[in-house]
Amino acid sequence: MDLSEKISCFSLVKSFFDSTKAGDIEELLKVKKVVGKDKELSFFNWGRNAFYALFKGLPYKTIHFPAFICSVTTDAALAAGKKVKLLEVNKETFNLDIKKLKGKKIKCLVALHAFGNPIDVLRIKKVLPKAFIIEDCAHGLFSEIKGRYVGKAGDAALFSLYKQVPNLNGAILASNKNLNLLNQKEESFLNLKKRLFMKTKGIHQYYLDSLKKTYLPKIAKQKFTDKIKPNRLILNLFKQGFKNLEKEVEKKRKLAKIYFALTDKSRYFLAQKIEKNSQPSFYQFVIRLKPEYSHLRDKILMILRKKGVFLDRLWYNAPIAQEKFSSFKKSCPNAFLLSQSVISLPIGSEFKRGRIGYLFKQLQKTVKENL
Ligand SMILES: Cc1ncc(COP(=O)(O)O)c(C=O)c1O
Repeated sequence: MDLSEKISCFSLVKSFFDSTKAGDIEELLKVKKVVGKDKELSFFNWGRNAFYALFKGLPYKTIHFPAFICSVTTDAALAAGKKVKLLEVNKETFNLDIKKLKGKKIKCLVALHAFGNPIDVLRIKKVLPKAFIIEDCAHGLFSEIKGRYVGKAGDAALFSLYKQVPNLNGAILASNKNLNLLNQKEESFLNLKKRLFMKTKGIHQYYLDSLKKTYLPKIAKQKFTDKIKPNRLILNLFKQGFKNLEKEVEKKRKLAKIYFALTDKSRYFLAQKIEKNSQPSFYQFVIRLKPEYSHLRDKILMILRKKGVFLDRLWYNAPIAQEKFSSFKKSCPNAFLLSQSVISLPIGSEFKRGRIGYLFKQLQKTVKENL
């Protein structure tokens, strides 16, 4: 489930007729210095499948993950036959707690830029000089740290083709590993018909909104396969969206300041803190309820949905909140706290100040009324 912008019919029609190739996207990303020149790019229909393909080919038995991350990433490691170990996060930045990595035996680590907040991978490398580091940049196109885009300091990096631009699905893995993907097939258009309906602008969105009022979204399950690559519609839509993305990210950074000011004044919430020397992409603006109010989270989001205000709770089912990882609960209390208290607010480059003010006011009012 995501709060991303919907695809316009114009973009859709245009994309049916364009014929972007994977190589064109690779060049685009390299020219913009989003991926390193030394990396090869592989394309997948979903990010989880990119991870699955990478994990299968890695010699390490165990993959370490931040305990607060989308659970499909740890599911991909399990499906690839790996053992998963979870690590504590910083409750302010929502990223890995780098100080706690010291002295740990870690051979392979996923470093997440949570919601586009750039973690300092060079600092991780100082602490773990021999580890194979995979950057999860699914939210991090144009996120910068110390003047460099994220995704270039690690050994491999995942990017999403649909999270930051209006699109249906798709992912890229940048790495030096040969992933043996010779018999990949393009995703069939038929596979995409449901997502096309859900993610395209139009009056049917009123119908979808009326359905959304009755439930809190869950993270969709997918079967793991490394055999499917994105078709030309997905590549074309990404190319169109990517053209404007850098400017949109800049606008989002300005809009985020309004959210920060509102959160600072609020007695109920704390905002995700920006990492030092960084410029996040603000995939979403993420806050958490202070611990004394966090039990109200799901109730508040449900009440708001009924009023047509759709906020999300990524990641309510992070690995740390799952029974199968309960042995890590003691060592990762911050990650558990986040999984129980985060609220993600939408932030679109086209948003007006008033919309942000309205969303925040509705949220604040609902908390107050339900104390
Ligand atoms: C941070 C992060 N990484 C990876 C993924 C997997 O991406 P996909 O949904 O394309 O499988 C997600 C999932 O939503 C995610 O939030």
